[in-house]
Amino acid sequence: MTFQRTLVTTALPYANGPVHIGHLAGVYVPADIYVRYLRLKGENVLFVGGSDEHGVPVTIRARKEGITTQEVVDRYHNIIKNSFEGFGISFDVYSRTTSKIHHQLASDFFRKLYDEGKFVEQTSEQFYDPETQEFLTDRNIRGECPRCHAAGAYGDQCEKCGATLSPDELINPYNAINGNPLTKKETKHWYLPLDQYQQWLEEWILQEHKEWRPNVYGQCKSWLDGGLRPRAVTRDLDWGIPVPVEGAEGKVLYVWFDAPIGYISNTKELCDAKPEHFGNWETWWKDPSTRLIHFIGKDNIVFHCIVFPTMLKAEGSYIVPDNVPSNEFLNLEGDKISTSRNWAVWLNEYLVDFPDKQDVLRYVLTANAPETKDNDFTWADFQARNNNELVAIYGNFVNRALVLTKKYFDGKVPAVGTFNEYDQATIAEFQNVKAEVEKLLNDFRFRDAQKEAMNLARIGNKYLADTEPWKIAKTDMDRTATILHLALQIAANLSVAFEPFLPFSSAKLRKMLSMSELKWEELGNINLLQEGQELGEVSLLFEKIEDATIQAQLDRLANIKAANEEAEKQEALKNWKPVEIKENTNIDEFVKMDIRVATVIDCQPVKKSDRLLQFRLDDGMGGRTILSGIAQSYPDPSVLIGKQVLFIANFPPRKMMGIESQGMILSAVDADGKLVVTTVTAQVKNGSQVG
Ligand code: MF3
Ligand code: ZN
Repeated sequence: MTFQRTLVTTALPYANGPVHIGHLAGVYVPADIYVRYLRLKGENVLFVGGSDEHGVPVTIRARKEGITTQEVVDRYHNIIKNSFEGFGISFDVYSRTTSKIHHQLASDFFRKLYDEGKFVEQTSEQFYDPETQEFLTDRNIRGECPRCHAAGAYGDQCEKCGATLSPDELINPYNAINGNPLTKKETKHWYLPLDQYQQWLEEWILQEHKEWRPNVYGQCKSWLDGGLRPRAVTRDLDWGIPVPVEGAEGKVLYVWFDAPIGYISNTKELCDAKPEHFGNWETWWKDPSTRLIHFIGKDNIVFHCIVFPTMLKAEGSYIVPDNVPSNEFLNLEGDKISTSRNWAVWLNEYLVDFPDKQDVLRYVLTANAPETKDNDFTWADFQARNNNELVAIYGNFVNRALVLTKKYFDGKVPAVGTFNEYDQATIAEFQNVKAEVEKLLNDFRFRDAQKEAMNLARIGNKYLADTEPWKIAKTDMDRTATILHLALQIAANLSVAFEPFLPFSSAKLRKMLSMSELKWEELGNINLLQEGQELGEVSLLFEKIEDATIQAQLDRLANIKAANEEAEKQEALKNWKPVEIKENTNIDEFVKMDIRVATVIDCQPVKKSDRLLQFRLDDGMGGRTILSGIAQSYPDPSVLIGKQVLFIANFPPRKMMGIESQGMILSAVDADGKLVVTTVTAQVKNGSQVG
């Protein structure tokens, strides 16, 4: 099959918050690179995006901010759209799933499958809040994590330990919004019987798409090997697209049913508005000579490779994706990026903090793209890649070529003489790179492709460093002209090679070289600029980023981390309950414990231990030393000196970290796990017994 056109979609981000570097690195920058590359090659391509405005996350955000759900999606849709524009993500259409066209199309899609009997109806028990009389979705159920026992884990995931959960696993589940305890109640839903498509999926993915990225193929294989089960495509919720069936009042389409249909609706919206330019939407979605590519993050794989294709197949008239390049996750300074925890670099904030540096972030995120494994974004790496690569290699080369041309040739492209052997070798090396970049881009290997583009700049930079035209100019103006001529041609090539990756810089460079936008085919051509052609205004392509700028970002993150820790503590306190009383004991058992009072003479952290404090006590009997594992709760142990404390005096001595401990200090455990040493309410003689 030869394809006539390519339809590129990017996951529709939830309009429950701004977009961050994880979104950009995982989905939008790679998709944009790919689309720009295809456009430069003159191919017929359509780039579709939009906001995902249904689902529970937006309703949670509305409650949190005390505004309506509509206000939430309006706010974030605009912020997100502007951020993408700001970073040059060159969508042909960026719309939203609350649009009329989408509601209609998604509703019709469901109805068609319903009418044709493609769904299975099933009643099941779901968590229910008897007081508010509503069913709860996974995200709105919280409780203690069964794995790490953190308080406030969500019904789908524990943010503390990262475990994937189902609400049934939570200990003491409660309504996340009002804290109410939950019961279970029966409710009816429609299911997409994925099991009936298992064989088709196995053939289509496992046999016919072995070329998919290993992470994508592997995830599909493990889902398929596990055996697919029917999946509910409706929910009890008041925000979303109403289920277009009698008797389904109060139910909406599951967000993962309607959102991918958004790709289709947004295509339709664009094509209906400008048919002369974009053609008929159905050509993009139903003609088998269209190649459909979904760019997504790894948490979306099952929906784009299994659920959505099954929907399309069940409907019957649509094509299915040809490839689903999915990235792994990007972490931030070692921790998982999280919208709810505000652990992110927000794109709208970056655009304010770093004006005109969109390409720097694009560059760093591609250089560090999580294509095959999770990766970490650090501000130190951001600074280093800017200063050592963009500034020192690409920027430096271009700047030298232009400045020297201004200086020696009045800012006009000098005439070329004969190339010597070194020039020829440079040209050959340079021309090889084009095929390499293309191969990598065709394989969705953006990180390596950008590295190759940077190699072009490196070749140019090395050429000037080796030929030293600023020295040669003193003796041989013809040779200087040839060197700078070639350097400028290389710079012109760089503007083409980097166009998919760094579009802002390419535009700037084209202006400096006074050249028009070129086709990809021109790459490798060393006659892009005409002799005598006047260059434009010269300015720096990239600027150094100073330490103070980076420090400001690190400080911001440190503040967020502290605030999160405080919030976690508050959540733990809110949900604290005393542990159950132990089984009965008696006075005979109790009196075996010899509890006494002593005054703390000295209290120091034990060297090389982050847990132990060493107490020196006046116990009224000559004194004793006790070690206690409470250092975390007393960052300044000197506050205990002079206090009277309670301790068990008749434990056998025990050596820890080479020190003998003679007993045990009694402490209370607070709700957040903090230990507080016990004392008496009035001064008593040291050595007094407690009982
Ligand atoms: N909103 C989803 C997310 O952020 C992605 C939806 S992709 C679509 O994970 F295909 F459903 F649109
Ligand atoms: Zn956990």
